[in-house]
Amino acid sequence: MTSRRKFIRKAFGTALAGSALPTIASAFISNPGKSFELEAPHYPGKNYSPNDKVNIAAIGTGIMGFQDLESAVKVPGVKLVAACDLYSGRLERVKELYGKDLFTTKNYQEILDRKDIDAVIIATSDHWHDRISIEAMNKGKHVYCEKPMVHHLDEGEAVIATQKKTGKVFQVGSQWASSIVSEKAREVYESGVIGELILVETWNDRQSPNGAWQYAIPTDANAGTVDWDHFLGDAPRIPYDPVRFFRWRNYVDYGTGMAGDLFVHLFTAMHTVLSSKGPQRVYATGGLRYFKDGRDVPDVMAALYDYPVGDKHPAFNLQMRVNFVDGSHHGQAVRLVGSEGVIDLGWDTVKVSLHKMPKNPGYGGWDSYATFSAAQQKEYEAWYKAHFPEEKPAMISEGTEFSVPKGYSADLDHHINFYAGIREGKPIREDAVFGMRAAGPALIANKSFFEKKIINWDPENAKLIA
Ligand SMILES: NC(=O)c1ccc[n+]([C@@H]2O[C@H](COP(=O)([O-])OP(=O)(O)OC[C@H]3O[C@@H](n4cnc5c(N)ncnc54)[C@H](O)[C@@H]3O)[C@@H](O)[C@H]2O)c1
Repeated sequence: MTSRRKFIRKAFGTALAGSALPTIASAFISNPGKSFELEAPHYPGKNYSPNDKVNIAAIGTGIMGFQDLESAVKVPGVKLVAACDLYSGRLERVKELYGKDLFTTKNYQEILDRKDIDAVIIATSDHWHDRISIEAMNKGKHVYCEKPMVHHLDEGEAVIATQKKTGKVFQVGSQWASSIVSEKAREVYESGVIGELILVETWNDRQSPNGAWQYAIPTDANAGTVDWDHFLGDAPRIPYDPVRFFRWRNYVDYGTGMAGDLFVHLFTAMHTVLSSKGPQRVYATGGLRYFKDGRDVPDVMAALYDYPVGDKHPAFNLQMRVNFVDGSHHGQAVRLVGSEGVIDLGWDTVKVSLHKMPKNPGYGGWDSYATFSAAQQKEYEAWYKAHFPEEKPAMISEGTEFSVPKGYSADLDHHINFYAGIREGKPIREDAVFGMRAAGPALIANKSFFEKKIINWDPENAKLIA
């Protein structure tokens, strides 16, 4: 019978040639249940000269725009010089936080026309992502665009082509791509400690006191303080509606539903850890079960994906879900289940545990052999002991846990990666191709859900298979 260690070598000998397998795998096995704090590779990794400034502007200063700015301005030499939003109150706020002399506008073209701006952060509603990204790169700006990279499946190709044509740095803003927990999870996965990947389970469960995606609407919102016409963009023309403006995620005209908004992070994490290009097939289901507030996207969604063999993983199945009703075990997670153990990736932790086998044969000690005669049972037990002698001592039930240090921000690391790409030409963690390989699988879940059918996908080229 193959021992655990031999099995690990056998399973990963070819797929992960040259990985640090023996050292890491044995470290886990001899250190059951230990907790480790990860080291944060924050700036300053490099001392930029005082002249090496990057002037940035924010386009879209809502919830995420402000968070992006908080991270961006922490990177040495990065200076916010302008901001654009469609609601006056948010432009007032950006001045309150970043200085009353900051240039602000409701027209992003005025930002793109300025020669002194090197890079823009695009944190608008999803339906503007591709258009502003393309215009910005064509006008010579580097782009940090919030996830999902695009609103519709057919928009990805033009963003990728524009990035290639202009040579501008383009990063999609899904933080798990640069997080130290994903890096550690990848190292653990590539060590082979969990054996051969069998399936992945991922989820994001949430609820909030004022309701999921029922964000606050300011009392001064009106057709004067909000540029509704501009907001609509390529969406159907309808009269001003503050609910649609401030809670755009709930409507397919402006957002991408649970899949585009939240599946996309889970794909980013998974693809980072597994070096995967994506799935080849999905079936998604769900429904609008709880939030009967006029939204036209589901509040429960579950999808089953098939992944083909990748450079660093075998074919496997993925189940992904988002639920907006039960937030009791709030949070998002990715669980990689291997033949030998499990890696649980959270926002701040990576936990590794090896399968705990029952002492006796069968599932939980139950097996058909218990129905045999006493003599047969004895014979079978002797055979079992002879064939599975090594499994018991190697069991780790508590798990080994790695966690981020206090105050760690994956968001900051993701921005650091972006500016290192601009200044040093460092590889971008979530470039346009990666961005589409995360957004595409999320958007095909929507297509499957609305059309009630299986959707096929080409993970190499990030395109729909008709
Ligand atoms: N990476 C993450 O963890 C994360 C978290 C939240 C949101 N996001 C993404 O960030 C984006 C923004 O989400 P949010 O929660 O900040 O939304 P939000 O509604 O709080 O803010 C969006 C802002 O964009 C502005 N806007 C829309 N169209 C514009 C245009 N054409 N020009 C200028 N401004 C425009 C609106 O006025 C609004 O203030 C979304 O794509 C979302 O998916 C990412």
